[in-house]
Amino acid sequence: MKLAVVGTGYVGLVTGTCFAETGNQVTCVDIDVNKIERLKKGEIPIFEPGLDVLFDRNVAEGRLTFTTDLKAGIEGAEVIFLALPTPPGEDGSADLKYILKVADDLGPILSQYTVIIDKSTVPVGTAEKVQAAIAKNATIDFDVVSNPEFLREGVAVEDFMKPDRVVVGTTSAKAQKVMEKLYAPLVRQGNPVIFMDERSAEMTKYAANSFLALKITFMNEVANLCELVGANVDDIRRGIGTDSRIGNRFLFAGIGYGGSCFPKDVQALAKTSDDYGYDFRTLKSVMAVNDDQKKKLLPIVHEYFDGSLAGKTIAVWGLAFKPYTDDIREAPALENIKALLEAGAKVTVYDPEAMENVKRLIPEITYCHTAYAALDDADALMIFTEWPQFRTPDFTKMGKLLKEKVIFDGRNLYELDQMRDLGFTYYSIGREALNVPALA
Ligand code: UDX
Repeated sequence: MKLAVVGTGYVGLVTGTCFAETGNQVTCVDIDVNKIERLKKGEIPIFEPGLDVLFDRNVAEGRLTFTTDLKAGIEGAEVIFLALPTPPGEDGSADLKYILKVADDLGPILSQYTVIIDKSTVPVGTAEKVQAAIAKNATIDFDVVSNPEFLREGVAVEDFMKPDRVVVGTTSAKAQKVMEKLYAPLVRQGNPVIFMDERSAEMTKYAANSFLALKITFMNEVANLCELVGANVDDIRRGIGTDSRIGNRFLFAGIGYGGSCFPKDVQALAKTSDDYGYDFRTLKSVMAVNDDQKKKLLPIVHEYFDGSLAGKTIAVWGLAFKPYTDDIREAPALENIKALLEAGAKVTVYDPEAMENVKRLIPEITYCHTAYAALDDADALMIFTEWPQFRTPDFTKMGKLLKEKVIFDGRNLYELDQMRDLGFTYYSIGREALNVPALA
């Protein structure tokens, strides 16, 4: 099939590349001249494991091309994906200006029956708005379909090529056939393409992300209570995750969720609820608890240093909102680093991928080439991202480099017995604090 993907951000680029890999002819369109030039030169503007191999192959074999010209890009395309940003407006609702602008532009230039697919996360009712915007100027038959993506950053290619399910919102039998053909190579394992109406598909995306955010937040609150009652959240996770009704994924307590999706989508769904006059109380609690959770370690750090961080150096491991990405959007590390600086501390950091992105926002901290270099002469270590290299470090070396053997771990990376034996002062989430000075 011939496809066009409008918007070469994260979702658009993964979608375009993966559909080229399944044998389609794909043109990616973007108004950003610079970006398109870089893509034409073979430069991928995002870090996503495995994407480079597919990208290079499909560019080399001529199935993946790039243009800034919308009309040329959609020429002959049976399917047009809209993968455009929907940033939150001031009131938390998703801003549709980019999508509706392209919809306006598409109307007069469609030249054959086309399926136009909303891939971006968009509020309920957007497919109808896109339909109306295109219809204003269109002279030929077309359908607008909602096809939300469920990709996780860091494993997006795998998620795309082997989806648990594909959700398609359309009430058009003609569009349904096109979508079945398009996704057939990806659902051969028997995973379903679930058809529903447009509004339900739009709602499914928000419900999925909000439910996952709720699941994490619930565990974070269980963890907070575990600390008070003297229980271990790791054991609770194992104890409840083995119940197949609950499932063992997304139950890891920590320093709060971040990223480009969960915070934005929870907020947008709460806003939609308000707009429809429904007070979605669990969502509002999720937002409030997560805001607090991100700051959870700060009072503990302050208390450890007797209320003053002035003149102290805090080493930070991990800046990205999760491992295998350089994405720092809503990353808990940033808020914590800013608070440490405000409290008069110096900060030394290491992250395998995200340092360049943070340098632009917070230039005044020390960026180190290795995790150990960040520890040199620091008074304590804080951990915000569970990069695998942090999981089994050389603790003896750490103990020598740090001025004090103290770790504030927002990701529960280490076993309590091991840290107790090694003599570290160790604070984690939802577990006993070890070797706390006041209690020693
Ligand atoms: C998410 C959804 O998983 C994906 O389906 C959707 O398309 C986009 O949003 P992503 O933002 O890439 O994907 O990140 P994800 O892996 O889901 O993690 C989100 C946040 O939750 C991270 O900050 C992560 O650290 C946190 N998290 C996740 C936990 O704190 N505990 C967990 O058990 C799982």
